[in-house]
Amino acid sequence: QQLDADLTIRPLASTDHSRGHFDLLSILTIAPPVSPIVYAKTFRNLQSCPNTYFTVVIVSKQTDQLVACGSIIVERKFTRAAGMIGHIEDIAVSKSMQGRKLGLKIINTLEGIGRAMGCYKIILDCNKENIPFYEKCGFKHKEYQMVRYM
Ligand code: ACO
Repeated sequence: QQLDADLTIRPLASTDHSRGHFDLLSILTIAPPVSPIVYAKTFRNLQSCPNTYFTVVIVSKQTDQLVACGSIIVERKFTRAAGMIGHIEDIAVSKSMQGRKLGLKIINTLEGIGRAMGCYKIILDCNKENIPFYEKCGFKHKEYQMVRYM
């Protein structure tokens, strides 16, 4: 599915700190902005693990601000003949852009990356309210999440 002409999709850039990345992430969870230096350092740290961290963003051409984002992290296993699992994380679409299939576009793009990397499955955690969205994206419910905060 094509994006509308006013939007573009690309990998996250080290300069996206100034393009509203934290406003976007705040839709999702507690995401106070870090300094541009810390942002660039975190970006470099993720890039230093080749073929592991992939973040894609959708940008408004008009405002040069991020309007959607999402990540896939490729986990390498000893099981499944040294197989790989893709973990989808941090999907967010800005409130004013929700319902325009941008979430679906981000998920489809991340799935494409996971497939190209050779992942045998892609998994994610979400709350109950988001289950219908992920079902529309082709996911099905399996297992339960456990957590222990540190
Ligand atoms: N309930 C039911 N159906 C939904 C919902 C919902 N909450 N959200 C989307 N859908 C449906 C749409 O109606 C559409 O169906 P259709 O193809 O029949 O028309 C389909 O799912 C695709 O919808 P999109 O337009 O692509 O969804 P959107 O761009 O609005 O993004 C998202 C959905 C990501 C959940 C967005 O609402 C959002 O950012 N929410 C706040 C942050 C959040 O909860 N993120 C997910 C956290 S989980 C994680 O990151 C792994």
